[in-house]
Amino acid sequence: MTRLYWALIATAAVAAVVAAWIIYVPGPTAFASGSTVALNDYKDANPTGVPASLASADLVKRGEYLTRAADCEACHTAKGGIPYAGGLAFKLPFGTMYSPNITPDKETGIGNWTDADFLNAIHKGIAPDGSRLYPAFPYPSYTLLTDDDALAIKAYLFSLAPVRRVTPKNSLMFPFNQRWLMAFWSLFYNSNERYQPHTDQSAEWNRGAYLAEALGHCGECHTPRNLMQAVNNKRKFAGAVTAGWRAYNITQDKTSGIGSWDVEMTEKFLAHGHVEGLGTASGPMGEAVDMSLRHMTPEDIKALVVYLKTVPPIPDTSLPVPKTLLASTFPSDHEVNENARGAMIFAGACEACHGWSGKSPVLKYADFVGGRTVNDPTARNVAQAVIWGVTRHSPDGVVTMPGFGKAYSDEEIAAVVNYVTARFGAEKSNITAEEVRKIGKQASQ
Ligand code: HEC
Ligand code: HEC
Ligand code: HEC
Repeated sequence: MTRLYWALIATAAVAAVVAAWIIYVPGPTAFASGSTVALNDYKDANPTGVPASLASADLVKRGEYLTRAADCEACHTAKGGIPYAGGLAFKLPFGTMYSPNITPDKETGIGNWTDADFLNAIHKGIAPDGSRLYPAFPYPSYTLLTDDDALAIKAYLFSLAPVRRVTPKNSLMFPFNQRWLMAFWSLFYNSNERYQPHTDQSAEWNRGAYLAEALGHCGECHTPRNLMQAVNNKRKFAGAVTAGWRAYNITQDKTSGIGSWDVEMTEKFLAHGHVEGLGTASGPMGEAVDMSLRHMTPEDIKALVVYLKTVPPIPDTSLPVPKTLLASTFPSDHEVNENARGAMIFAGACEACHGWSGKSPVLKYADFVGGRTVNDPTARNVAQAVIWGVTRHSPDGVVTMPGFGKAYSDEEIAAVVNYVTARFGAEKSNITAEEVRKIGKQASQ
């Protein structure tokens, strides 16, 4: 009897430890060794706020820099809509959610919010009426922002023209429509703590960490989530799917991550969204570059890369070493026979911009060679680009690729997608029309 009793207790204890391990996630900078201190006790250069060149600028100007670095615009703007007026649809497996209007309109926006209201939302995910906000609004990242930085962002938003636009109603299924549940979620997954510098790391590293974690929220897209949909930092930056796009592994793993990119290449990719031989940032990353990263000062981009370079490698065997050789000038008969339909569509609809070799004859942003997108055997992002097209507000002006989702059937899209990965990537994809149909439904609009 006592033996059974102890066996039961031991099993329960093991189960509790396993459950706690599954539920528990480390903080975003927990991978770095050494101790942390409160900001006020940190002796080195302050990692928060704006870069030195803007230190004496007025509050609204400082707020503008920080608002861009936090990329509030990407989520709070409907496709083709007025910036910050909300209405972007987030299509989730359990319904659709819309981002609210955060212009200073008093009725439909946040014009009546006090500083305390704003800080409660940014740090705790609590709205002025006390209701809980969903973490699709990445407050578990923004909670790291200092009060000063959050209020500078508010000052910038309040300097914009108020826009009257009622946010559409969410259509979430039970129990996901129960906002109060987020109080429990927050208990586990929102630290509600401001950024604490690591004393063993350089001031530049700490600035990079603040930019990546508090402002740029890279992990919200690039880190896989646990069963509770919280960012799981045990697999920090190991890659995840976001709005139907695959946000690749950006750990320092040399094969599947960006460990083989040198500092200069990484800086250039973040600041331009393109590096010759490494491909182009499209979809949500193209937006992150255009709306956010490319507006950062070179010093801030440098700090971001100093930080990224220390993120431990996590291998992902589904991603091969990208092919860096140019393809032949013309496709061989054998290649055409393998996928005649794909080859024909490519020749008619894509080649003029992308070229046969992987080097675009017209525009560097349309290069394929060496890029992860065409070297991803799931071909998820190739399919997204083909279905929806791509619009970039790049450092060289507006760059567009038309979407083909309406002109071509799912079968035709699958054929051209598989043709692209076979021709330009290290491993060909075998995407089906059914997968194309599903992927096409997942982008935010
Ligand atoms: C990844 C997408 C995303 C980003 C980035 C984002 N938000 Fe949001 N935000 C949302 C969504 C979605 C909601 C709605 C959450 C809900 O309904 O519970 C929201 C809600 C809010 C709210 C609450 C508004 C209300 O009427 O209740 C405020 C304020 C807000 N965001 C401000 C910001 C600011 C400021 C930034 C930049 C620092 C920002 N957001 C960045 C997606 C985002
Ligand atoms: C809104 C989601 C989102 C955010 C936020 C985001 N990324 Fe990305 N990122 C992506 C997606 C999606 C891709 C793949 C783009 C493609 O296929 O063209 C990507 C690609 C990349 C790549 C290229 C990887 C490769 O192997 O080619 C790098 C580097 C990168 N992101 C770094 C960052 C950093 C650093 C941050 C934070 C400052 C960040 N990203 C924030 C979604 C995001
Ligand atoms: C009018 C010119 C044009 C046409 C036609 C065109 N594209 Fe593009 N495509 C571009 C440009 C420009 C980009 C880069 C956008 C950016 O900077 O993110 C791009 C991006 C892409 C990407 C994403 C690359 C990456 O690394 O993230 C893929 C995949 C792609 N195109 C495939 C195709 C296919 C397949 C077709 C034919 C069905 C096609 N494109 C037709 C101009 C074009």
